[in-house]
Amino acid sequence: MKGVILAGGLGTRLHPLTKITNKHLLPVYDRPMIFYPIQTLINAGIDDIMIVTGGNSAGDFLKLLGNGKDFGLKHLNYTYQEGEGGIADALRLVEHFADKQPICVVLGDNLIEANIRGAADEYAKQANGAKILLKKVPDPERFGVPVLDGETVLKIEEKPKEPKSDFAVIGIYFYDPTVFDVIRTLKPSGRGELEITDVNNHYIDKGEMTWGELDGWWTDAGTFESLLRASNMVAETGANKL
Ligand code: G1P
Repeated sequence: MKGVILAGGLGTRLHPLTKITNKHLLPVYDRPMIFYPIQTLINAGIDDIMIVTGGNSAGDFLKLLGNGKDFGLKHLNYTYQEGEGGIADALRLVEHFADKQPICVVLGDNLIEANIRGAADEYAKQANGAKILLKKVPDPERFGVPVLDGETVLKIEEKPKEPKSDFAVIGIYFYDPTVFDVIRTLKPSGRGELEITDVNNHYIDKGEMTWGELDGWWTDAGTFESLLRASNMVAETGANKL
């Protein structure tokens, strides 16, 4: 399985912090944010990694990460997303890299405490389709929220005003190679972006989506509150424990 980290976007929710630099280069406690999703993939046994960047300071990723030697990697792949077309638009750019293999996609501002190797191993056994990870949160209206019927995910609603469960769909996804065909069918949402939630609903409609519940804490870091929370969580308990 190959790994993809989405680290583009303009990070407008963090202005002025992101006015001249990329959100994923900002510090989270003692490391730049991008270090955490890289470690998430490596801990899951995935070492063929593509970073999709964009917006400001894209060249700084190369300066910071090089070929990934600090992470024990021999090589890192990079690509550049023009504009802010959304998560699914960024994913579109890795079709060539994926080369018809399954992929694990991590949003660059998602930090976790534990290891997703269990979920990655389960997905590797799944012949096709997709897999999402859910986590109970106090503020589901900020995220993609699953509508559940027992153990079955009926659909995902993106930032619903009245969430139908306490779960958030976290920004770590597993996809088979048909994901790129799915993306080609998408239309921009109300916020003008190709939504990852639309990709996931596509798999749900086809009956090809599984899900798991994430162990340990999870946070995004794309707002002032969540960026502060991420730093505090890492300082207090550490991230990406093996
Ligand atoms: C994105 C997804 C959302 C998901 C979240 C996780 O939201 O659209 O479904 O729950 O990431 O961090 P965004 O951060 O783009 O608003």
